[in-house]
Amino acid sequence: MRTLDSHLEALLGLTLASVDCFAVLVVVGSWLNYGEVMTRPFDFRFKSFEELSKSELYDALWLRDRVFVVGQKITALSEIDGEDPDWHHLLAYQGSDLVGYARLKWDHDPVKIGRIAIDTTLQKQGLGTVLMHEIHRVLGARHGFMHAQAYLRGWYEQLGWRVCGPPFDEADIEHLPMERP
Ligand SMILES: CC(C)(COP(=O)(O)OP(=O)(O)OC[C@H]1O[C@@H](n2cnc3c(N)ncnc32)[C@H](O)[C@@H]1OP(=O)(O)O)[C@@H](O)C(=O)NCCC(=O)NCCS
Repeated sequence: MRTLDSHLEALLGLTLASVDCFAVLVVVGSWLNYGEVMTRPFDFRFKSFEELSKSELYDALWLRDRVFVVGQKITALSEIDGEDPDWHHLLAYQGSDLVGYARLKWDHDPVKIGRIAIDTTLQKQGLGTVLMHEIHRVLGARHGFMHAQAYLRGWYEQLGWRVCGPPFDEADIEHLPMERP
């Protein structure tokens, strides 16, 4: 007959085994999720304001609102700032979902880049890096300039950008001027 101690030992063993299994499932699950989002094909669209369809414009403004206003609580400056007609718009779709966005002031030298955004539910899975590579492809040999949020300095530097001036405040967030030579 099993003693009370041996029952407790067996129960503890089972509990620890379940915790191990759960941890393995979480790790495998996040890896699968990471892989899945990165393997869906991208449909990049680069358009002037006039070329945007109504639904593309709506998708872009909705994504920017979710990322910058709801996600980052940026309210010191208006998200819709009246400048969009003067910019080109890079949209990254996966199927019918707009997952990434940036706007480029195409007639400006260096080309100014702004509003770089990945859907809040899909960040930190590599999509932003794919978006940046597409920005570089679109830029070609042209120089780029941006007001980068300072917390992203290391990421942008890894991607070939460099700080070109002192930090400053924009919309209550520390920014750095950065250029892509
Ligand atoms: C900034 C932003 C565009 C980056 O997009 P992203 O999809 O999150 O970027 P990535 O996943 O490609 O890489 C960003 C970081 O996540 C890391 N990362 C990538 N895959 C990861 C994974 N599977 N698990 C954990 N981290 C991961 C990258 O290494 C990078 O980290 P680092 O800063 O230490 O180098 C996005 O996070 C965003 O929209 N942020 C809010 C708006 C914003 O700040 N815009 C920029 C204004 S200048």
